[in-house]
Amino acid sequence: MGVRFRGWGIAVPDKVVTNDDLSKTLDTSDEWIRERTGIRERRIGGSAMTLGVAAAEKAMAASGVGPADIDFLVMATTTPDRLTPATAPMVATRLGLTCPAMDLNAACSGFMYAVRTAQGLLETGNRRILVIGAENLSRWTDWNDRNMAVLLADGGGATVLEYDESGTDILSFVLGADGAAADLLTCEHGGFIEMNGKEVFRRAVRVVVESAEEAMAKAGVTASDISLVVPHQANVRIIQAATQRLGIDMDRAVVVLDRYGNTSSASIPLAMDDAIVNGRVRPGELALLTGFGAGMTWASSVVRWS
Ligand code: ACO
Repeated sequence: MGVRFRGWGIAVPDKVVTNDDLSKTLDTSDEWIRERTGIRERRIGGSAMTLGVAAAEKAMAASGVGPADIDFLVMATTTPDRLTPATAPMVATRLGLTCPAMDLNAACSGFMYAVRTAQGLLETGNRRILVIGAENLSRWTDWNDRNMAVLLADGGGATVLEYDESGTDILSFVLGADGAAADLLTCEHGGFIEMNGKEVFRRAVRVVVESAEEAMAKAGVTASDISLVVPHQANVRIIQAATQRLGIDMDRAVVVLDRYGNTSSASIPLAMDDAIVNGRVRPGELALLTGFGAGMTWASSVVRWS
């Protein structure tokens, strides 16, 4: 049974916050942030709902579909506008959708978990699923905490997945979760996001490499077959370490964190859209999508671009 990716769309707030802007209020510097993370600037503003709606409108237009064509909305977000109701029904109503709509929280693996969920929904009779990843991390960031403030940002991305009995874009999927690592990256009700950066870094490289190798084995391909790596955008050093261990040249990895920072479940669609806009994916080529995040959770998938 086949699943095809149709169009993609992204939305980022207009407000650009540079590393120099942050150094005015925090004991940090552009040099430190660039060297340790690869981030130069980030976008701040909006909400999961507004960014999700804006990204979805573009993805639906790029897919050539209207509200009546969508059978289900799965929205990945770690930062819903409210604890309840979920953000997805409000997004759906603004888009003119009348289908079921739900949120999914798998932190920075959220978009990949949402794609996997959508794949399952397509296998049970739905024809088209709108998948969104949108975050308002700035709302849960302590702007006096240099450990987190230099990393987190806001943004949204979306795609439309469609049932196709003639073939499939998704060749394999590997998902994982380990709640024993919950305290490494956490946000209490009413609090701010906190992280043990070193330990998250160490584990992130490990789970990305292990899950990517498993996804490639399941798809029956090797690292040399992969044309493009679309990784979660947390830290360029994590991407460098993981691609090196996988035996994939760094120039095959998409990096947009220099412009957008870490936007959690929006980061993979932001990177995917950038690759499409810049002509980095060609029909028939293989892409490795891979993410990790709080939970901990992780996800890797091999996709053949059609
Ligand atoms: N500016 C300047 N100095 C800083 C800053 C800062 N923003 N932050 C820390 N430092 C200092 C530290 O105090 C330390 O000083 P010391 O040597 O005097 O003790 C020094 O810089 C080095 O700090 P480290 O923590 O060792 O720096 P490291 O190289 O580990 O980088 C970072 C920290 C960027 C957080 C890295 O560990 C990382 O990227 N971790 C993973 C982050 C991640 O992937 N998060 C994922 C998900 S986020 C989400 O899900 C929402």
